[in-house]
Amino acid sequence: MKISVSRKPGLPTRLTLFTKEEADKKGGRVAGFSGEAGEVTVHYDKGTADVYCGLGGKEECTPAAVRAAAAKGIRRALELKRGKVSFILPAAAKAFNAGIEGVLLGAYGFTRYKSERPEGLSALECVGPGISLSQVRAVETVCSAVAYARDLVNENASVVTPVRLAQEARSLARHGGLRLTVLDEKDMAAKGLRLIAAVGRASPTPPRLIVMEYTGDRFSKEKTAVVGKGITFDSGGQNLKPTGHIEAMRSDMAGAAAVMGAMKAVAALKPKINVIGCVAAAHNAIGSGAYFPGDIYPSFAGKTVEICSTDAEGRLVLADAVAYCVQRFKPARIIDLATLTGGILFTLGEFVAGLFSNDDRLSDALFSSGENCGERLWRFPLYKEYRDSLKSDFADLRNLSSFKKGYAGSITGAAFIQEFAGDVPWAHLDIAGTAWNEGEPRGEVPKYATGFGVRLLVDFLKKP
Ligand code: BES
Ligand code: ZN
Ligand code: ZN
Repeated sequence: MKISVSRKPGLPTRLTLFTKEEADKKGGRVAGFSGEAGEVTVHYDKGTADVYCGLGGKEECTPAAVRAAAAKGIRRALELKRGKVSFILPAAAKAFNAGIEGVLLGAYGFTRYKSERPEGLSALECVGPGISLSQVRAVETVCSAVAYARDLVNENASVVTPVRLAQEARSLARHGGLRLTVLDEKDMAAKGLRLIAAVGRASPTPPRLIVMEYTGDRFSKEKTAVVGKGITFDSGGQNLKPTGHIEAMRSDMAGAAAVMGAMKAVAALKPKINVIGCVAAAHNAIGSGAYFPGDIYPSFAGKTVEICSTDAEGRLVLADAVAYCVQRFKPARIIDLATLTGGILFTLGEFVAGLFSNDDRLSDALFSSGENCGERLWRFPLYKEYRDSLKSDFADLRNLSSFKKGYAGSITGAAFIQEFAGDVPWAHLDIAGTAWNEGEPRGEVPKYATGFGVRLLVDFLKKP
């Protein structure tokens, strides 16, 4: 895509955002357009199309409203097969980035399997004073990392296998100067990563533990670890998922995709920080070689785990990955992202991800990044009673709480992972609701894979 900045629009399609107040002032010129949030009108003048998008009243005009309006506008332009767009930057300089993000995120489409490729955004000119090409390029770097994460999640589960995720990481490492370690099933057996191995054991494509290291500050030992759940397909295993619950389970690696997207962005933006990106990749398959409910396995950390459900596999792979990162890298903080529980959809819906943490400072910083970038989080408690419900009669822990089915399921899932973080400040983001959109596009959020977590992690990691 061609990106440019200028003072005057020069491309055949112009995208402009108006508040209600601004639309009133222009009343005569933009007939029938009132600037309501969500409103989009197209006007033609010879060869030029003007796409007007409403932002709502002045006081509702937040960066989130700008992002959503710009995304809706660009989708309309592309529907009209107009892929060369001048984007008139909204008046508030604070909203520049949100506007450009809206355009770039809204222009995303997963087109690989369409015989006729729909029109994509081929040229974007950002029009207005006070914007530099490097500012636009930085936003574009992050948005293309989001698109990368979305593609990984949307792509077939038979294509995006654990082995393929390791190949992707290799290519990210090569292009971005990251150090890469991939543990295969033999390495896992040797190192005692028995929980990941158990989850992945029935699949023709074996599990992988992938570690990407970004060193932006050689003089500091401080590192942040981000760990993603990378279940490339979650059949449920022996506790097989029924029809209605299994169809979208290629999205169960959305946490891994967010980590890989964030590492891609970080490697390109080169902030002065150190980051460990870790992906726990396995296919939770059903087959005669699969792990059984009732089995007890030792974990990397040494604690033994009774498998009460083979469908609660995310916490197993994360337990090993989190414990491995803690032991191997001694990070200052560790954040995991996982499509961990269907329950989080019942509490927060598709708009907000669950936040669980043993550290108020880390939790507050993540929360404020979420508010800042529009990938919102809400925190849940982790009281001792939740942890106590994970005690097993025959092992150290059970992978399902002993509460009634469904009671506090997202919290007890988080509490299980917490057991493996030790005293390292840790946060868990349950993105099962936000990573996948079953409905129609909402603002910058497309249908299906959303790429949730990439912008949040980049915002958080870049903070001083
Ligand atoms: N991958 C699922 C969670 C999920 C559900 C993600 C819906 C996206 C949409 C996870 O592995 C799972 O199966 N969780 C179980 C946990 C239960 C067995 C404790 C669940 O949510 O029902
Ligand atoms: Zn599952
Ligand atoms: Zn799962």
